[in-house]
Amino acid sequence: MAFTEKIYRDDDVSMDILKDQTVAIIGYGSQGTAQSNNLRDSGVNVIIGAGPKWRYPDWEKAENDGFEVYSVADAVKKADIVHVLLQDPAQPGVYYESIHENMREGQTLSFAHGFAVLYGTIQPRPDVDVILFVPNGPGPVVRQKYLDGSGIYGAVSVDQDYSGKAREKALAIAKGVGSTKPGTVYLSFQKETEGDNFEEQVLYGGTIHLMRAIYEIMAENGYPKSFAYAKAIRSIRSIIDDIDEVGIEEYLTRRASRTCEFAVRTSGPRVINYDEIQKIFEETERGEFARNWLVEFNHGMPVLNRLRRKWKDSDMEAVGKEWRTKFSQS
Ligand SMILES: NC(=O)c1ccc[n+]([C@@H]2O[C@H](COP(=O)([O-])OP(=O)(O)OC[C@H]3O[C@@H](n4cnc5c(N)ncnc54)[C@H](OP(=O)(O)O)[C@@H]3O)[C@@H](O)[C@H]2O)c1
Repeated sequence: MAFTEKIYRDDDVSMDILKDQTVAIIGYGSQGTAQSNNLRDSGVNVIIGAGPKWRYPDWEKAENDGFEVYSVADAVKKADIVHVLLQDPAQPGVYYESIHENMREGQTLSFAHGFAVLYGTIQPRPDVDVILFVPNGPGPVVRQKYLDGSGIYGAVSVDQDYSGKAREKALAIAKGVGSTKPGTVYLSFQKETEGDNFEEQVLYGGTIHLMRAIYEIMAENGYPKSFAYAKAIRSIRSIIDDIDEVGIEEYLTRRASRTCEFAVRTSGPRVINYDEIQKIFEETERGEFARNWLVEFNHGMPVLNRLRRKWKDSDMEAVGKEWRTKFSQS
């Protein structure tokens, strides 16, 4: 085997440590909805902490799904494990307003991303466990895979082990959400956070901009727009499951055409700017990406709002809307 790290599977993990424990999920968004439902279906006692009803639809949504919902402060007081599933830059505000003062010795503070702890925007009290569990996928997929009985690969981490049982708790949450079925790995808060932010910038950022470039160049050069759109977006779907199933080399040599293999091996590297990717990695490790994102968030997201407005009105989005109504099942 090429890797040596331990992969935790269902048989390696007991959920007994969660017996008689109350898990408060703070935030009922993408991850909050999926993880609370999966944990409840796995027999864990889950309550929800949400922002004021008049501002956050989370409260009503969770109540409609049959959960007991409390203000964040009350949920923290009632809980043994406080699992914070708010978007990352919003976490410090909520934490210092409603969580920090209400935590007591021996509780567990848990996250799905190490951002706030790694960059110090949240500094937990020293007499609690600080753990992390993250499934490798967006909330709706986490829920669907649990319902399918397959689960989604995950990671756990411990930043403070006050009880001596912090890793056991993180793994039990991973099992309850369904992530020890396919496998869960242990890594540091630092690696989880920086790895995630690196992936978001390069893999998601690069792929999405590649899709746009393919569409725009083909559309500008007279291709039918529906064809350009299919080439830019749908094509990737047809290869990614194959590659995940059999690996890159098997895909290229046995499943792709020889022309495709030649194109991939010879022109593909010209598309990738390795030096820039390396630079993004180093900037991420220096905390520059985190600083830029926090500054952006704290100023009301001017760059994001400007870019959203620009891209929402693009030709590709308009074509995509029509494309999905005509070809969504194909
Ligand atoms: N989504 C993913 O694919 C994914 C994958 C792995 C890990 N994670 C991690 O999971 C955590 C949660 O992310 P998410 O994507 O699930 O977030 P999300 O979908 O944005 O959910 C957060 C929820 O909390 C609510 N909220 C925001 N500010 C609040 C406040 N001040 N008080 C009370 N409630 C508030 C939001 O309401 P509004 O929307 O109305 O503001 C939203 O419903 C993050 O640490 C993230 O890094 C996410």
